[in-house]
Amino acid sequence: MVTAYDFTMARLLDEGGADILLVGDSLGMVVQGHPTTLPVTVDEICYHGRAVSRGARRAHVVGDLPFMSFQLSPLHALENAGKLMKEGSFESVKLEGGEEIAEHVRRIVTAGIPVMGHVGLLPQSVHAMGGFKVQGKGGDAAERVLADARALEEAGAYAIVLEAIPPDLAEEITTAISIPTIGIGAGPACDGQVLVCYDLFGMFRELTPKFAKRFAEVGDTIVEATRSYVDEVRTRAFPASEHSFKPNGPRHRPLPP
Ligand code: KIV
Ligand code: NA
Repeated sequence: MVTAYDFTMARLLDEGGADILLVGDSLGMVVQGHPTTLPVTVDEICYHGRAVSRGARRAHVVGDLPFMSFQLSPLHALENAGKLMKEGSFESVKLEGGEEIAEHVRRIVTAGIPVMGHVGLLPQSVHAMGGFKVQGKGGDAAERVLADARALEEAGAYAIVLEAIPPDLAEEITTAISIPTIGIGAGPACDGQVLVCYDLFGMFRELTPKFAKRFAEVGDTIVEATRSYVDEVRTRAFPASEHSFKPNGPRHRPLPP
């Protein structure tokens, strides 16, 4: 699973074999430049969802329910989950939290909308957690994360993201529940893994979470390509004759298929 926020990236990730594309509320940080995910709205998730779902050929597309779009009541959660499905072209929704939102999950699932859970570090609760910090350390805290995962399975979730918890706890949860776990900073025992696409590609340079492996340095490539472009424009090396229209040549590039 990888996050995606636009058509072009979705096409590339789908071609690369990602099974699930998540329009995460991480878009507040990596696309909008906010310090947290809190400002993201349902309408923004829907806007990006429409673009991503046009780009996904085979991958399943999940939409995040942003902060304050599902907390008020199970009905409130269902209303916004339905909006994501109708206006965001999503195939399932994801929401943060455990036992305290289990009834909300049940209500959404009952309406025929598949739900992915998310426990451990909850970025929407960053201020309550005292920062983006590893969760589930120590007996009581670990028990609570396990209980949260069990509550979500019981409520009908089809998979659960485990974020920033010790690997042995992630392994225990993965064994204890029958639905797939998808880890981010939760060790290798999870059934799947998820990364923010800009972290995976080495494009988000404001901070690199400990758990985010850069599989490429696309950020460097973009900076270097921009420098070459700027340089060639200044020296008039670009555009060359092959980039210029001939008097009787084709008038434009063929449209993509
Ligand atoms: O918003 C997001 O990108 C997420 C993933 C990191 C799981 O919730
Ligand atoms: Na999220």
